[in-house]
Amino acid sequence: MKRYLVTGGSGFIGSRFVHHILGKYNDVSLINVDKLTYAGNQENLKDVSDDDRYRFYRDDICDKKRMAEIFSEHKPEIVVNFAAESHVDRSIGAPEDFIQTDVFGTFVLLEESKKNDVERFIQISTDEVYGSTLGEPFGETDPLMPSSPYSASKTGADRLAYSYFKTYDLPVIISRASNNYGSHQYPEKLIPLFITNAIDDKQLPLYGDGLNVRDWLYADDHCSAIDFIISNGVPGEVYNVGGGNELTNIMITDRILELTGKSKELIKFVDDRPGHDRRYALDTAKLSALGWDPAIDFKTGMEKTVNWYIDNRSWWEPLKSGEYLEYYKNNYGIEL
Ligand code: NAD
Ligand code: DAU
Repeated sequence: MKRYLVTGGSGFIGSRFVHHILGKYNDVSLINVDKLTYAGNQENLKDVSDDDRYRFYRDDICDKKRMAEIFSEHKPEIVVNFAAESHVDRSIGAPEDFIQTDVFGTFVLLEESKKNDVERFIQISTDEVYGSTLGEPFGETDPLMPSSPYSASKTGADRLAYSYFKTYDLPVIISRASNNYGSHQYPEKLIPLFITNAIDDKQLPLYGDGLNVRDWLYADDHCSAIDFIISNGVPGEVYNVGGGNELTNIMITDRILELTGKSKELIKFVDDRPGHDRRYALDTAKLSALGWDPAIDFKTGMEKTVNWYIDNRSWWEPLKSGEYLEYYKNNYGIEL
């Protein structure tokens, strides 16, 4: 039996990963350690909460004492660290939690993993660590030039994890994925925000000229890549995980309006995000050569995603209230 410890398993990608592992393998135990910040949601895992193989701890990865207790009780073999503050805009207004969770929290997990001789430590990093490129897509050995407090804190965690491989022989593997989309994504990120706004005929706040480019990866594909990397990846290595779907924000917006049947008049161009990276692009040849490629094409992924938000208003509607509404009113003059 394989023993997994997943952090941030109640968030968007982490919850898809918990479902992926429990759905694919019978002989596993899986501990989910999640602080349940605004981005963590028990609803995302309610269908596995009674599964004997699953156990949830509401804890902070920065809490050294609790992490020591959990590691020593469960002796995980595979640690997958999703837990992070993950939204770039929030990191611009309030960076402290990002440094704390993304860097210090990763340090606490690395220390416990070293003490407990884990077999694999997977650090879920991001393509944002490379910064922006208008030229060739980034390969795994390219320099890291993060631009936001979020991506800088993720870069710190990424390199700290590597240092535990190099210095202490901890079997660390680092994945750097592009922008994920899919069901259960908190409606502050571009795709779920714009889908849910469009459904309700609310404005879509497009930053700057709308021509920034991201490479979109379906979250279930990201989870299958992580699973593949756990089995086939080499300790000390970094793997880019991309979707092969480079699109401008305006193209994404048009697709959402088309799928929801709403008018382009909903688009509102607003001030640009400070330090806004123009384009993320990944060279994914390394993972492809190892035997993994994404399975879900963008057309299918977007149809499934839009339909999920249409069918699951009860999941996202309560999240769009209070402080959240104030934020859009104060920053963009938009009444959601
Ligand atoms: P998310 O914000 O939806 O979820 C983060 C989860 O971490 C939440 O459940 C939250 O409660 C938990 N968490 C936060 N601080 C914690 C703490 N101190 N202790 C324990 N739990 C804590 O994020 P996501 O979009 O699912 O991203 C997951 C990971 O993948 C992050 O590390 C992110 O940097 C990385 N990533 C995300 C994307 C993307 O497009 N969303 C792409 C590449 C990499
Ligand atoms: O590339 C991977 C990263 O992708 C992850 O590491 C991050 O956790 C994740 O949040 C995401 O970062 P981005 O900043 O690229 O995602 P976001 O959805 O915030 O924005 C996508 C693009 O859309 C970006 O160019 C900014 C733009 N945007 C975003 C929002 C929320 C808008 O134009 N309007 C908006 O309201």
